[in-house]
Amino acid sequence: MNITASASWKAIEAHRLSLSPVHLRQFFANDPGRVASLSLSYDGIYYDFSKQRIDSTTLALLVALAHEARLDELTSRMFSGEKINASEDRSVLHVALRRSISPFPSTDLDVMPEVIATRQRMAAFADRIRSGQALGFTGMPIRHVVNIGIGGSDLGPKMLDYALRSISHPALGVHYVSNLDGAQLAPLLQTLDPRTTLFLVASKTFTTQETMLNAQTARDWLVANLGDAAAVSRHFAALTAKPERAVKFGIMADAVFPLWDWVGGRFSLWSAVGLALMIAIGPHAFADLLAGAERMDEHFRSTPYERNLPVVMALIGIWNTNFLGATSNAVLPYNESLKYFPSFLQQLEMESNGKSVGSDGQPLACASNPIVWGELGNNGQHAFFQLLHQGGRLVPCDFIAAVRSDYPLPGHQEALLANCFAQSAALAFGKTAEEARSELQGTMPATALESLLPHKVFAGNQPSSTLLLSRLDPQTLGALIALYEHKVFVQGAIWGLNSFDQWGVELGKAVASSILPAIANPPLAEKFDASTQGLLAFSRQHLA
Ligand code: F6P
Repeated sequence: MNITASASWKAIEAHRLSLSPVHLRQFFANDPGRVASLSLSYDGIYYDFSKQRIDSTTLALLVALAHEARLDELTSRMFSGEKINASEDRSVLHVALRRSISPFPSTDLDVMPEVIATRQRMAAFADRIRSGQALGFTGMPIRHVVNIGIGGSDLGPKMLDYALRSISHPALGVHYVSNLDGAQLAPLLQTLDPRTTLFLVASKTFTTQETMLNAQTARDWLVANLGDAAAVSRHFAALTAKPERAVKFGIMADAVFPLWDWVGGRFSLWSAVGLALMIAIGPHAFADLLAGAERMDEHFRSTPYERNLPVVMALIGIWNTNFLGATSNAVLPYNESLKYFPSFLQQLEMESNGKSVGSDGQPLACASNPIVWGELGNNGQHAFFQLLHQGGRLVPCDFIAAVRSDYPLPGHQEALLANCFAQSAALAFGKTAEEARSELQGTMPATALESLLPHKVFAGNQPSSTLLLSRLDPQTLGALIALYEHKVFVQGAIWGLNSFDQWGVELGKAVASSILPAIANPPLAEKFDASTQGLLAFSRQHLA
């Protein structure tokens, strides 16, 4: 289906023409009840989208678009375990990972027994490490855990581990290594004691170059230091959908924790891939995370679209991208603990929906995912916010903050929240020339004032939403992540693409494998383009 040819798409286009001269100041002046009608709250999350360039009619028209795109059908196909990831011939059932009741998705295709069994094994394993009962090869307790993985096998657990560090085990060190660059692994190894270190090799495929090379180096380091290859059995575990490959690597079968091909990498933090996180925060907190996500799943499945958080969030993104022409979306957490959230979202959104071919193999008739970028908001204010305020580009923003702090220094949290609220207000409402003039009057000569004036004007009308969380606890974070997961799903459904494959990352991997031998072997470089040959020649010179 070409969604751009639908009646609801055309109705939104016509409506946009009528709205485009309206400034956010005007929207607020026109409708005193605007915040009540353009905000939602659910389970400790308050979502204020009143500073988007929409009115109630826009929302109603967007909801009609979701209905016309048959979002309900795709949703029930996902929840019933149909193979909606057609290009990989897979079901999409990460929602099963936060459930606890069998059968799901159906009696014929019940995945819950293995999900629950794996969760119980993970909890037992995590408890043994947390209590100091898990001993290394020399009999000393494990004190450090290193998760070796990349992409979905790194970003989710690392992001949450940092977000929840206030409740982390006080005596265990949990570390994350993803980069091929030895500058990440080598300095970490220098700080670790091989007798007390456990490596978790997290890789759904157990073939990813970065992860396998880092795991190999870690194994060599361990064996060299402990003087016995048998030590690997006490210091390595694997989190993978390919257990046989992990066993071949030398990991004991009982230290291999499975996931399944119906769990996409970027949706896998709820699975065995979350083991490092579970070790850090404990099985109970991990269960709370799952419970928060499960509640968001239920909200998504059962709430009418106009009050449905993921659906509304997705529709606003579609409005900004496809009708207002935004090409990026800034994610701005006003919370140090959400430092890694923008990177996590980059994979979730751009690997899922950064596509220009639909599920039917035809080119999409409209733009798909905008560029997701972002940084801690308070730091960003003193760096790139200038462009948001006066750069003249349309950059919709997601402000995210938690009301209660886990680190309550006097005055800090209030100041942080004030800055968060101030930025979205300043971006929305700006400052007119008249307002700037009246502020400057009397502070300088008239000619100086007039020449300074253009620099003091803020156009405003920059759209944003604010997600306020009551606090950053595991349940709320679980709900927040599930909210964005479903947002991605809804947008993919409306754009008509498959959000669950990622063929676009394959070409670079294949080219890297063919270039690798040419670094050491000059004649092999000849088959590459002139630029690559030049890069290889320079590298060879300096590597030597
Ligand atoms: O190359 C992309 C990708 O396949 C991601 O989708 C995935 O999260 C990441 O690599 C890591 O994959 P794996 O868990 O199989 O090592």
